[in-house]
Amino acid sequence: MVADGPMLSVIVPTYNERGNMGLLIPRLSSILESESIPYEILVMDDDSPDGTCEEVRRLSVQYPGARCIRRTRDRGLSAAVMEGYREARGDIHLVMDADLSHPIEVVPELYRAIAHDGADVAVGSRHTRGGGIEDWPFKRKVISWGASMLARPLTPCSDPMSGFFAIRPSVIEGAPLRAKGYKILLEVLVKGRYNRVVEVPITFKDREIGESKLGSDVIVNYVQHLMWLYLHPGSAPPIKFLAVGGSGILVDLGILTGLFLLLGDGFIPLPGYDLKYVFIFQAISFAYATTWNFVWNRHWTFDARSVRPSGQYVKFFTVATIALIVRTVLVHVAVNIMGFEGMPEYQIALLMVIVLVTIINYLGSRLWAFKK
Ligand code: GDD
Ligand code: MN
Repeated sequence: MVADGPMLSVIVPTYNERGNMGLLIPRLSSILESESIPYEILVMDDDSPDGTCEEVRRLSVQYPGARCIRRTRDRGLSAAVMEGYREARGDIHLVMDADLSHPIEVVPELYRAIAHDGADVAVGSRHTRGGGIEDWPFKRKVISWGASMLARPLTPCSDPMSGFFAIRPSVIEGAPLRAKGYKILLEVLVKGRYNRVVEVPITFKDREIGESKLGSDVIVNYVQHLMWLYLHPGSAPPIKFLAVGGSGILVDLGILTGLFLLLGDGFIPLPGYDLKYVFIFQAISFAYATTWNFVWNRHWTFDARSVRPSGQYVKFFTVATIALIVRTVLVHVAVNIMGFEGMPEYQIALLMVIVLVTIINYLGSRLWAFKK
């Protein structure tokens, strides 16, 4: 059969994987050829002393789709994959381990998810229904599960630690990917541009030849990496939205206090104080706090800088004003009509109103004001 359709670049990072090359390359080549998928296999080797590259060169006589790129600078798993992305000439880029932990027969499925089913990212997932892990000690399963949970708010994907996934190159075009940290997929999911992620269940098998290169420093490295990803603009918007909202309350209170101190008769409006001022001061501090929230949410929470700010600002202000009105009305109803005045009825009612109003604010911001 003649191969046609989009071309697949398989990127395989290696360090001392000579023994696996003679298994991986022939099997991968024969599956891709039997499926008529045009392909190249890029072995990104960090100058392995065991002769991984020589082995690939030897195999490439029979399997010309495979070649080895010997890397001597900027070593490391992620750096090797990033260089693979730059070298790859295919229309779909797939990353997999060399040690046969990732089932080769799933490669065409990941390819098709993108080539035919419109996915932008296709993940070989251990945690989706039908997936799993074979031969891992209980301890490593627990660590892996814990690591996935910590990353949960960053991405809808159930296995962002997977080292087996395919993307369209456009997903990472221009994305500020960091070559540190072992979790390349997580990096791609947080910083890339994509619409649809598809998960294909896989069973991860522990390697039979050679040994794992990922030691305990990986865990420390991972936690640091996570921290950067949480701070990255646009990641985990609900968490950032709450943090910004909290800071906005401080701005609001600070400005209100300042106005009372500077222009009012004292800190707290005493009985008999001209309520007109209270209203004006509150309006000013509200406007400031809302503007503060707007700037942070636009740049950081939702990373919505690609859209003109003026329209966003009007919408964001509208949402905040509506939320304030809803809050005022509901508190009035709770206190004066339903009679929630004493402790703890008042506090509970207020808390429920605040939760509701925060949800309104969030949805209004996300789905309307900062819609991209
Ligand atoms: N070029 C290069 N440089 N390749 C490396 C390096 C490096 O410094 N370190 C590891 N590799 C290659 C290995 O040769 C192998 O092909 C692949 O990266 C994965 O390395 P392993 O040492 O087999 O990792 P693992 O099996 O412990 O971890 C795998 O599973 C994890 C899921 O729990 C990897 O797929 C991880 O990415 C994945 O998160
Ligand atoms: Mn492995």
